[in-house]
Amino acid sequence: MHTPPTILAFDVYGTLIDTHGLVSMLEVFARDKAEALSMLWRQKQLEYSFRRALMQRYCPFSECTVQALEFACTSFQIELSESQRRELLDGYRSLPAFPDVAAGLESARDAGLRLYAFSNGLAADVESLLDHAGIREFFTDIVSVDEIRSFKPDPEVYRHFMKRAESGPERTWLISSNPFDVTGARATGMKAIWVRRSGSPVFDPWEFQPTATINDLTQVADVVITAR
Ligand code: 2OP
Repeated sequence: MHTPPTILAFDVYGTLIDTHGLVSMLEVFARDKAEALSMLWRQKQLEYSFRRALMQRYCPFSECTVQALEFACTSFQIELSESQRRELLDGYRSLPAFPDVAAGLESARDAGLRLYAFSNGLAADVESLLDHAGIREFFTDIVSVDEIRSFKPDPEVYRHFMKRAESGPERTWLISSNPFDVTGARATGMKAIWVRRSGSPVFDPWEFQPTATINDLTQVADVVITAR
């Protein structure tokens, strides 16, 4: 009898791709504040996406990124020249993948699991990020929230993913480093793996907890296959 494939939805920004990969570029003008600036930039980008989803004022995630950069620079009293701004935003389109990503994706694909990239980002932006990082080949498809003009963790976004992947919650896994994303997926009944690469992040003490927690993407295939 034909067994339907197990579907893996990989979050992109912060899970496959390192959103703090521009710290050395930020150091040129923010010096010892570069890391804090990078954190605020990311934090605001996500906050803007949450607020826009709640307010039903969708705009592309790239616009949240632009506006969050402006907010973060103003907060740190940094004035960017037009060329610095362009350089940073171009850099955001070619952020690096984390070192464990290629090996993790390869072992998951070789185990017969079906891989998707699932992101707040526009499909074209995700496509070029994955291409640049040399990992596009592992994915069957890219599913962007832009298709329904909302953001994670709107439950509609996870339901849309399952529709696109022709899957149900019992055989769909979200893989994400972002606790709010894991919580969002679990709330719609999906399984979810929290990727906690360093010891410091704390998971939200809500009623929705990860199905499993790993510290390296190479553990994904084992966790999913053991749970089947
Ligand atoms: C993503 O959807 C949440 O930024 C994260 O790629």
